Amino acid sequence: MKPTTIQVELGDRSYPIRIGEAWIDGLGVALGEAGIGPSSLLVTDESVGPIWADRVAAGIRGGGLAVESIQIASGERAKSLESVRSILDFALERRCDRTTAIVALGGGVVGDVAGFAAAILLRGVPLVQVPTTLLAMVDASVGGKTGVNHPMGKNLIGAFKQPDLVAVDLAFLETLSEAEYRSGLAEVVKYGAIADARFFEFIEANAKALLQRKPEPLARAVARSCEIKAQVVAADELESGLRAILNFGHTFAHAFEATAGFGSIRHGEAVAMGMMAACRSSRPPVKSIDGWPP
Ligand SMILES: NC(=O)c1ccc[n+]([C@@H]2O[C@H](COP(=O)([O-])OP(=O)(O)OC[C@H]3O[C@@H](n4cnc5c(N)ncnc54)[C@H](O)[C@@H]3O)[C@@H](O)[C@H]2O)c1
Ligand SMILES: [Zn+2]
Repeated sequence: MKPTTIQVELGDRSYPIRIGEAWIDGLGVALGEAGIGPSSLLVTDESVGPIWADRVAAGIRGGGLAVESIQIASGERAKSLESVRSILDFALERRCDRTTAIVALGGGVVGDVAGFAAAILLRGVPLVQVPTTLLAMVDASVGGKTGVNHPMGKNLIGAFKQPDLVAVDLAFLETLSEAEYRSGLAEVVKYGAIADARFFEFIEANAKALLQRKPEPLARAVARSCEIKAQVVAADELESGLRAILNFGHTFAHAFEATAGFGSIRHGEAVAMGMMAACRSSRPPVKSIDGWPP
């Protein structure tokens, strides 16, 4: 695919989303171009780390930056203050300073946890999101919401922390499971439903190719999703109005996730069911004919 850059316009906190295929070996150069360095802390999880961390660390070093790596546990249960604490301890023990960038390599869990650590470490250090799930590429890595869960509920502790760069490489999806990939597609469908009927039609027409991860429709779906998210975030960064549109299906989704127990069903799976539930419950009442619909 031809690499594309989408700009999230937020005044002096604007940042690029760079989307391409198999370009991550050049991450260090991209960091340099974004003015990030000279040191970095690569945060990943125990599933993504063994597959990708060495390669990404080498890519960062290739741009002349120093890099240290830390892994947190994987999955929703790792979205905790304990994970944040382990990152802060690791960074402070290594005498990081305000120029040390946190590079979040992983799905939405790593992005949210590492992003929150970047927001509070030394009152804020640079943040680079390197999403490795489809869900994180089209949603979690863009927009600056970071945080962790509390026993009382999901995402109850957190901060807005916009990244300095979002580096999307579709090659990461090669190692992503089928179930995680489908979960991410739910958020792609959401963008079509909330903002762009033609995009929705494109998704319908290319459903099979998207499920087969065909590079061309996949690249278009990721880019268009990021574009819509970038526009909504630029218009309403702190969710005082329009940004709530991104929560389509999520009221039900969060209820499903909480009821099932966090981590028992995937976020995207809950969103898929949540969008169906929201559509059904917003349908005007239908007059019953011979007891149908029940
Ligand atoms: N901040 C936001 O705006 C925002 C938006 C949407 C969702 N979220 C959050 O994101 C989280 C869900 O993110 P997710 O769906 O990416 O889940 P995740 O981060 O838990 O990743 C899913 C699983 O896939 C593994 N994985 C990730 N990339 C892989 C790869 N390339 N190859 C092999 N395995 C890989 C992970 O280790 C994990 O086990 C939720 O906590 C949700 O609340 C945040
Ligand atoms: Zn979501």
